[in-house]
Amino acid sequence: MQYSEKVMDHFMSPRNVGEIEDASGVGTVGNAKCGDIMKMYLKIDDNGIITDCKFKTFGCGAAIATSSMATELIKGHTVEEALKLTNSAVVEALDGLPPVKVHCSVLAEEAVKTAIADYYQKIGKPVDFEIEKSDHEE
Ligand code: FES
Repeated sequence: MQYSEKVMDHFMSPRNVGEIEDASGVGTVGNAKCGDIMKMYLKIDDNGIITDCKFKTFGCGAAIATSSMATELIKGHTVEEALKLTNSAVVEALDGLPPVKVHCSVLAEEAVKTAIADYYQKIGKPVDFEIEKSDHEE
């Protein structure tokens, strides 16, 4: 199967790559099976809006493309909206991924949620959501 143009675009020129030094929340996740690692940084203002978002992904092309797309989809949105971002919405925004690469998009969702959980812990808010693991057996 071929990768969509959007996947290739986000793989070749990923958006929001980097780190945020004074991030409000950071999430580091990895998939034990493929060994890929993703680190997501969120800057969140007093109104709960994600004003900035950066990532570093040491992983496959689909992992880079999905983390890039995930940052684009949550930037400027509230934390609550970002929590609703599913891996399938990321895949859809990229015009699809081959089935064997779907776990890469789950890793991106996991990274966003882990960073939000970190933020919640920092501000003393209970983490009241589940984080799906990308290396769970299907
Ligand atoms: Fe595992 Fe892509 S092959 S994240």
